[in-house]
Amino acid sequence: MTVCAILGGQWGDEGKGKIVDFVAEHADVTARFSGGNNAGHTVMNPQGTFKLHLVPAGIFWPEGIGVVGNGVVVNPGALLEEIDALKVRGIDLAGRLLVSDRSHLVMPYHAKLDELAEKARGDLAIGTTGKGIGPAYTDKAARTGIRAADLLNLEALYPRLEAVLTHHNAIIEKIYQDTPLDIDEIFESCKEWAAKLGPYIGPVEHIVYDAAEAGKMVIIEGAQGMMLDLDHGTYPYVTSSHPTIGGACTGLGLLPSQIDVVLGVFKAYSTRVGSGPFLTEIFDETGDKIRHLGVDPDAREFGATTGRPRRVGWFDSVVARYSTRVNGYTSLVLTRLDVLDQFDTIKICDSYELDGKLVKDFPGNAALLERCKPIYEDFPGWDGVTAGVTKMEDLPAGARAYIERLEELVGRPIDIISTGPYRHETIEVRKIF
Ligand code: IMP
Repeated sequence: MTVCAILGGQWGDEGKGKIVDFVAEHADVTARFSGGNNAGHTVMNPQGTFKLHLVPAGIFWPEGIGVVGNGVVVNPGALLEEIDALKVRGIDLAGRLLVSDRSHLVMPYHAKLDELAEKARGDLAIGTTGKGIGPAYTDKAARTGIRAADLLNLEALYPRLEAVLTHHNAIIEKIYQDTPLDIDEIFESCKEWAAKLGPYIGPVEHIVYDAAEAGKMVIIEGAQGMMLDLDHGTYPYVTSSHPTIGGACTGLGLLPSQIDVVLGVFKAYSTRVGSGPFLTEIFDETGDKIRHLGVDPDAREFGATTGRPRRVGWFDSVVARYSTRVNGYTSLVLTRLDVLDQFDTIKICDSYELDGKLVKDFPGNAALLERCKPIYEDFPGWDGVTAGVTKMEDLPAGARAYIERLEELVGRPIDIISTGPYRHETIEVRKIF
């Protein structure tokens, strides 16, 4: 059996949820390792259409369990809502979902601080999802975070909460001139979360480690994408966690040597939500066309968490090569190929130009990056449709040529191709397991 990581290769929203749902049929464990409910994973399968934010997308297969690792920041209210909404639709997670006792909680003051800090940034706003993710990770690093385990000992929690809130309320009042939050209200919520979430909290790291050691199948589910990584992304326009392979080890307590397969999920083009550099961005009506394509409204280019329109652009192989270097993909997954069915010309960025020089490696320096210009290859669109195709030989020749060119530019094989939002609209080019 295999431990397989499924990671976002670009700026998130690559369709990881669908891919996890597709490959998790025989998984014993599906594990989230980073981010929080800033993520939105849309899954469309025979049970319906689901938008998940914290619950791992493998839970639709009845044999496996889902776990939320220590690297995730958990909004308890949001998780409970998700658990309840799934139950109403016939998916009961009791005994099938475990949240790490080491995971940090996203508290009401985190969302408030996120909102106030974003407002204060003015033109330099990051475009966060406003869910409090950054402030929750800030508290984690500052050693003032509240962890899931703390819900299991409410008596000890109160004085810690009081100290943290006193500090944050001072910032809310004195820096932002806003209304402080009430400790008793928050503590009441903690009591409710403890009662409802308590049974789900446990030692996730042992379960994941032991499953890997026992040769069981573990799917590691990434959230966000490589270019939003706190260290390797386009800082400061990034999220506050590590959606990269190192984050998978830290965020689950896994050893690097336990991970057998690393799949990099890429859209056949690019999208980005929020601010920050995006060299291949399309500003004309082609961008708008890409944004609105997709048979199902849930599969169009609007954020699953915030509903914001996504910025769209052409495939950037400089980004893809960089992403491959940082994450060590053993192979790639290409999603949303069907969206490109309707174009006469498709562009692929193969390198950048900086002051008359060719740049093949993604610059770490934001000032240099700003001066880079994408160099494109024009690729002819194809006759025929890829939408819904499930076999490689049924793809139009032009689409196959596009895939081959991407493989050449990135230097990795594409093993899975998604041709539509539903689980079955998938081509398994080569067996991964
Ligand atoms: P935060 O994670 O809410 O702090 O937002 C930081 C940046 O990451 C913003 O540009 C967000 O739009 C982006 N971001 C966070 N989560 C996702 C996601 O799941 N998909 C795409 N972008 C995301």
